[in-house]
Amino acid sequence: MKELSLNILDVTGNSVTAGAKNIGISLTEDADGMLTLQITDDGCGMSEEVVARVTDPFTTSRTTRKVGLGLPLLKLASEQTGGQMEVRSKLGEGTTVTATFDTKSIDFTPVGDVISTLVTLIMGSPDIDFLFTDRTPEREVRLDTKELRAVLGDEVSLGSPDVIAWIKEYLSEQYNSTGGQDQ
Ligand SMILES: Nc1ncnc2c1ncn2[C@@H]1O[C@H](COP(=O)(O)OP(=O)(O)OP(=O)(O)O)[C@@H](O)[C@H]1O
Ligand SMILES: [Mg+2]
Repeated sequence: MKELSLNILDVTGNSVTAGAKNIGISLTEDADGMLTLQITDDGCGMSEEVVARVTDPFTTSRTTRKVGLGLPLLKLASEQTGGQMEVRSKLGEGTTVTATFDTKSIDFTPVGDVISTLVTLIMGSPDIDFLFTDRTPEREVRLDTKELRAVLGDEVSLGSPDVIAWIKEYLSEQYNSTGGQDQ
């Protein structure tokens, strides 16, 4: 994939399908340019046996086609930079996917338009709470839909056009004041 944000969209889609009520997406880059992506959910989780096979493209609960590619592609994107991907899951509790990337590698795929990815996720699942953080040693960008929901009250959907426009601007401002979202 051309942008890591598309892998994020894909793998977070699994959390949505798993019935998660809360999803955490964090990007954390250290001073050496090692980037850690972590996606956590409180969805249905997977058995040990499924976790063991989950990075194999032929493991899928899809019925429309027999090949699931979300996790194998993230694993590939990570490993081609010298990083690795780990999936931890417990049936009935949830799942955490962690992938590391060496941003200095020529095979590192830039993060790209993570704002669009977040907005797409929120519009598609306005009832799910998302906690997004993007940290480098210099800055932190953060969006917590729980905080937003508390301010908006129950009447207003997070997916409504005004709220979506606000979220876009809120995130853009945080990135712009700290040097942009592209890595
Ligand atoms: N967060 C999760 N919670 C519960 N099950 C998961 C989770 N992530 C993955 N799985 C299980 O692992 C399988 C493989 O996921 P993967 O994203 O690789 O492929 P897919 O979702 O089946 O297909 P695709 O992503 O190509 O549309 C899923 O079908 C699902 O059964
Ligand atoms: Mg998937």
